[in-house]
Amino acid sequence: MSTAAELWDTLENLPRPTLGELFSASRDGGEGADEPGGDERVAMLSGRIELEEGGILFDWSKTHLDRAVIAAFEELAEAMDFAGMRAKLFGGEVVNPTEGRAADHATLRGTGDEAKVEEAAALIDRMGMLVEAIHQGALGEVEHLIHIGIGGSALGPALGVDALSRDLSYCDVHVVSNIDGVALEAAFAKCDPAKTLIAVASKTFTTIETMTNAESALKWLRDNGVSDPSGRVIALTANPEGAVEWGVDETRILPFQESVGGRYSIWSSIGFPIAMAVGMDDFRAMLAGAKAVDEHFRDTDGAANLVLRAAFADLYYTRVRGCQTRAVFAYDERLSLFPDYLQQLEMESNGKRVTAHMQPVDGPTAPITWGGVGTDAQHAVFQLLHQGTHLIPVDFIASIAPGDDLDPAHHRILLMNCFAQGAALMAGKKGEDPARNYPGDRPSATILCDDLDAAALGALIAFHEHRTFANALLMGINPFDQFGVELGKQMAKAIEQGGESFDAGTEALLSIAGLQQA
Ligand code: F6P
Repeated sequence: MSTAAELWDTLENLPRPTLGELFSASRDGGEGADEPGGDERVAMLSGRIELEEGGILFDWSKTHLDRAVIAAFEELAEAMDFAGMRAKLFGGEVVNPTEGRAADHATLRGTGDEAKVEEAAALIDRMGMLVEAIHQGALGEVEHLIHIGIGGSALGPALGVDALSRDLSYCDVHVVSNIDGVALEAAFAKCDPAKTLIAVASKTFTTIETMTNAESALKWLRDNGVSDPSGRVIALTANPEGAVEWGVDETRILPFQESVGGRYSIWSSIGFPIAMAVGMDDFRAMLAGAKAVDEHFRDTDGAANLVLRAAFADLYYTRVRGCQTRAVFAYDERLSLFPDYLQQLEMESNGKRVTAHMQPVDGPTAPITWGGVGTDAQHAVFQLLHQGTHLIPVDFIASIAPGDDLDPAHHRILLMNCFAQGAALMAGKKGEDPARNYPGDRPSATILCDDLDAAALGALIAFHEHRTFANALLMGINPFDQFGVELGKQMAKAIEQGGESFDAGTEALLSIAGLQQA
């Protein structure tokens, strides 16, 4: 069996047909005669994951994956013991060696080790009981929820609430993450303190931004005549003792497992604001959608595994074609926060420089994830995608069913634009002069949901979680730690505490802003 290094070499040296050549391969005969082109290529490189109702199509045909590239990646997956590591993930074994932890997020959707699945189900039931009790008036009239958290304790809730509660919302949710008081004040301005609950979401219950915002929210309640402000707080945390110490009553603490990472925690009690907004049935539908992806990812081998196939393409572009970024455009307003969510998931997980065995990595790791919504982005950044000098693989995400009730023309134009962009990036066009020339041969993948309901959102998120994990395994890195975020936090603390000196530039800034400590 070849080693990983040999396989990367092989991949580097494989022929590089253009997308146009790949699409016409079998029609042309010639060298690529056994490479399917046209419809056969589309059939080879697209597949669906079925959900309880409808499903999602994953079309990777407009990427440079071909049989030879796929075969080399399948060998790489074997060399990196992909199947063994995947079994460890779902078996609840340690897959985060630097912290000695399992990564149990899939258990919250009912996938994995039986005992852990049972424990997770009990935690979700507990959350469900509280959500339903609140909806039925157990805590008085509740119209607003201010959800305070940051990073994984905010991005998932914000995405879920924004994507799913546009039609109907049981409760008006405001997600506040930034320590900049402007964010919290904006939420206060929209809420009636007498009808507001505060969710304090923090895995550790120590994060400075969250705890500072939470204190200010209590003060706001108190200043506005709420007699028992801490009675209005729900804590979402893997540190229930910390929450009790901070003053939250045990009956209003929704714990989750230490082995669920922050950026994988939307499925846990961190998803409480989503359930508050759309109800437990939709929250459970989101879990069920994710479970369908878990099962596909767990039970499918080789490139037929749509998640693994996506990871093959990701790594082909990052490592073989030298792409430094990956762009994601949701042609759906309900997914406008999806690129932000993916940024943390992918960059905090795979922005690493050593392997899980503490060796320097042998190539670039996570590309920079960025993106936006279509069609807005077409009028802002697509110029660079079509004619710039960077090669940027793009994902398009869309839903066949519209999210609006307006004239169907809106959704028709939206989808036509989405598909046109993928076609244009690939085909390019010869211009009458160089400024009007489009080089083409620019890759894209299309993820097309039948409908963007709660199950589809869960499936989309789970697909990207496993895609991130698969990328990490093929690079030999640990996606589940994030030590890179610590140094800046420590320095901020040192500045706050005073007594330490910094470089002259930083000292000058501190002095100008009046922040120099004695
Ligand atoms: O700073 C990074 C991080 O640790 C993230 O991984 C995490 O999602 C976020 O901070 C918030 O942490 P916590 O949920 O413990 O407040």
